[in-house]
Amino acid sequence: MPEKISVAAARRPDTIGREILLQGWVRTRRDSKAGFSFIELNDGSSMGSIQVIAPAALENYESVVKHLTAGCSVSIDGLVKESPGAGQATEVEARAVTLHGTADPETYVLQKKRHSFEFLRTIAHLRPRTNTFGAIARVRNCVCRSIHDFFQEEGFLYIHTPIITASDCEGAGEMFQVTTLDLANPPKHDGKIDFAQDFFDRPSYLTVSGQLEGEIFACALGKIYTFGPTFRAENSNTSRHLAEFWMVEPEMAFFELADDMDLAERFLKRIFRDVLDRCPEDMQFFNERIDKTVLETLHHIVESRFVRLSYTEAVKLLEASGESFEFPVAWGNDLQAEHERWLTEKHFKCPVILFDYPRSIKPFYMKCNDDGKTVRAMDVLVPKVGEIIGGSQREERLDVLEQRMAEQGLDAANYWWYLDLRRYGTVPHAGFGLGLERAIQFITGMGNIRDVIPFPRTPGSADF
Ligand code: 4AD
Ligand code: MG
Repeated sequence: MPEKISVAAARRPDTIGREILLQGWVRTRRDSKAGFSFIELNDGSSMGSIQVIAPAALENYESVVKHLTAGCSVSIDGLVKESPGAGQATEVEARAVTLHGTADPETYVLQKKRHSFEFLRTIAHLRPRTNTFGAIARVRNCVCRSIHDFFQEEGFLYIHTPIITASDCEGAGEMFQVTTLDLANPPKHDGKIDFAQDFFDRPSYLTVSGQLEGEIFACALGKIYTFGPTFRAENSNTSRHLAEFWMVEPEMAFFELADDMDLAERFLKRIFRDVLDRCPEDMQFFNERIDKTVLETLHHIVESRFVRLSYTEAVKLLEASGESFEFPVAWGNDLQAEHERWLTEKHFKCPVILFDYPRSIKPFYMKCNDDGKTVRAMDVLVPKVGEIIGGSQREERLDVLEQRMAEQGLDAANYWWYLDLRRYGTVPHAGFGLGLERAIQFITGMGNIRDVIPFPRTPGSADF
């Protein structure tokens, strides 16, 4: 029996001489006058396909092999040989070709022609078969593996925080509500919808972040991380926002802001280094086809130190920049994408960690600085994508936290358990959240975040 191996394995010279079984999809077929056909076979295990030589002597050569078209699924029994062709170490001489499924070239859209990413979004069930989306899937997988490797090696516990929650972590009111009430005829009490009759006896939502629950575990077990889908009902139709995205959130007891920034920098560098090591062929592709600077940028970042700058200093630089920005720069305003880009792309030309933001623009849980104006927040900004990490040291003082919640109009009664963490054995602690898709966008150079998640959810669009 021939051994079943992947195309990626069959492309390596150490398989020369072995009888193997390959299974995948035909990319192209061309027939030689010399009495055989070349089949480019891909199975998703690598960007590159393998060349299969199908001799005319195969019993189904005329009936099957000569009718193979792009997208047909096949099994190939064959022998791996050294390839005489340039750019490939091996090729496979077929002993048998079995057809599983045809793909009518009249209707199957993935032929040689290159499609726009916009069009490919309308065929999210077929786009994983293209070079670009195969490469994105492999890089995304590599990054997820690195995330777990990094934290596991550093002694963090992987904690699963809930998807359904009653509390708004970011306090921004951008949550999707979860309900089983009859929307056409909801129960009423005093003229208002009576959520006491809802499934969870109160209004509940899809989580925007696992941080608050993460803090519970960090304040018991030290260093933890949570990694899962998060949901935001912000109506921003931009190339960097999704309504459903994945976030990895470490949370560490006895960490202050500087420790948090150190961890974030080491973490990002580890992910980038792993992608460069483990996905060289895919990264080469992105560098050639998508953005000619991605390889150079990643190599440079892995070697260099991120710039660290307070928000106040950043505002001074922006004000002195002489640029005419669409949104005015003024201390107290949130920085816009154009400001972040100026800092990372024009001024420093590297990732920048901004810290100590105005308290008025940041959520209630961030630790207040003694200046009375700023909080211990930090954002990691990278060229082109902008913010990929948002984090902070958390307010561990009960009285200050209660005051901050009141300031932001939050009902302390809903957060009684969060306040208990400060009542009993409170500790300095800190954490951050990395948006997985923003990280993949940065690594691959893909311009639109909808193309780095398998099934993007954005306002007005939840197909597939
Ligand atoms: O800055 P954010 O809102 O921070 C938090 O949620 C904190 N609770 C994290 C923590 O401290 N544990 O979001 C964190 C990151 C952002 O920097 C960004 O990369 C990503 O999540 N993000 C989004 N990604 C895609 N689409 C959206 N709508 C996003 N909103 C945030
Ligand atoms: Mg943020």
